[in-house]
Amino acid sequence: MLDEQITYYRERAREYDASLNQPDRLAEAATRTTPLDQEFGAAMDALGRLGPFDHALELACGTGIWTAVALPRVARLTALDAAPEMLELHRRKLADPRIRYQQADLFAWEPAREYDFVFFAFWLSHVPRDLLDGFLDTLRRAVRPGGQLFCVDEPEGTHNAVAPPGAGHRQARRLADGREFTVVKVYYDPQDVEARLAQHGFTAIQVTRGDYFFWLTATRAP
Ligand SMILES: C[S@@+](CC[C@H](N)C(=O)[O-])C[C@H]1O[C@@H](n2cnc3c(N)ncnc32)[C@H](O)[C@@H]1O
Repeated sequence: MLDEQITYYRERAREYDASLNQPDRLAEAATRTTPLDQEFGAAMDALGRLGPFDHALELACGTGIWTAVALPRVARLTALDAAPEMLELHRRKLADPRIRYQQADLFAWEPAREYDFVFFAFWLSHVPRDLLDGFLDTLRRAVRPGGQLFCVDEPEGTHNAVAPPGAGHRQARRLADGREFTVVKVYYDPQDVEARLAQHGFTAIQVTRGDYFFWLTATRAP
């Protein structure tokens, strides 16, 4: 299923932004009309307030929606994703010399260095429960002591309009041409994520839970 998840996103790359109704989501606060868009915008604002940072790392960067929010506050950014099609779209959309690209499968990835800031949007829910601790351990090794973490995703128990909960941790996803894929989708309890981050060496964890999304910041303990 992890391979199918990558295949799905490789195939979805070119329709990804349109499928998220991007113009509304990226609009200025005043024109964020629906509660979902307002919350999405609040999460973006939270990311945009962090920093400044020297070297940031974004995991599962996709087409760069969240990269664009963080970029004004970073000197250098490494954008990582498993899907070359996502990275190519990202490169074309953002076209910024501060960005370096890395194609990697996060379930087989080992950070080559420590970063001042690591962030990811809508990635955690694609990490199966039995691989979560392993991922958080790798994540700790990617953040320098005193460095920061930001994450946004969909929590359990929401009336979720982005991706309705499927059975268990699997979800069927359909592309515009009708092809169907099965991906991992785990709606984590933000309190559980907070507790596990603490176990994996993070401190000062601040969680904001909304009706649709949750986002958090944390610091890697010295
Ligand atoms: C829900 S999208 C999120 C994209 C972006 N962060 C955003 O919020 O718009 C999930 C991303 O994870 C990437 N991905 C899926 N499996 C992966 C893996 N094993 N390693 C790295 N990236 C992966 C996909 O290519 C896709 O870009």
